[in-house]
Amino acid sequence: MTPQSASQAARDIAALAPIIPVLVVEKAEQAAPLAEALVAGGLPALEVTLRTPAALDVIREMAKVPGGIVGAGTLLTPEDVRAAKEAGATFGVSPGATDILLDACEAEDLPLLPGAATASEAMRLFERGYDMLKFFPASAAGGAPLLKGIGAPIPQVSFCPTGGISMKNAHEYLSLPNVICAGGSWVAPADAVNAGDWARIEELAREAAALKR
Ligand code: 3PG
Repeated sequence: MTPQSASQAARDIAALAPIIPVLVVEKAEQAAPLAEALVAGGLPALEVTLRTPAALDVIREMAKVPGGIVGAGTLLTPEDVRAAKEAGATFGVSPGATDILLDACEAEDLPLLPGAATASEAMRLFERGYDMLKFFPASAAGGAPLLKGIGAPIPQVSFCPTGGISMKNAHEYLSLPNVICAGGSWVAPADAVNAGDWARIEELAREAAALKR
């Protein structure tokens, strides 16, 4: 897969809803009901972070949920890329980008949202053919003002900001012309997941899905 087609696929996925839930799931049996609640609430694209021992099984289970588009987050190595693809992930997300990681995603045909937090990082990825990036860690790196600043000289590159985003500040990012969607973990809080409170998660997803872009 070329960087251009990877970016187009990532852009299409990012355009599905204003928010991509960033999920840290401890138990595989939580996967299906969690994904069903998020999809029912209007958030079809889901990022399962590879930060728990159960993450690959969670991707396997979520990939079976009708209407869900399941991606793997926290991709750091080629091994992560291969494992995510094998588990059924249809896209990947990484906090930053290295040539080794980009090579692996291109070789495995896994569309990637590679992370960037500065103009130089965005330029390097754009040079290689990527024009749909994750802006990470969004709030700590400088928030919406930084992204707006990068958008002035590099309007060709679009972003999915992630990190420190909530219902309170999501609109600051979503109103920018270079933002397609944002990522956030607030739609699936650990206490609700662990309590099996799927109704609450569906409601949080519904609120997030109604955010204006
Ligand atoms: C992540 O990849 O961990 C995201 O940045 C999630 O950030 P959040 O928990 O601040 O939404």
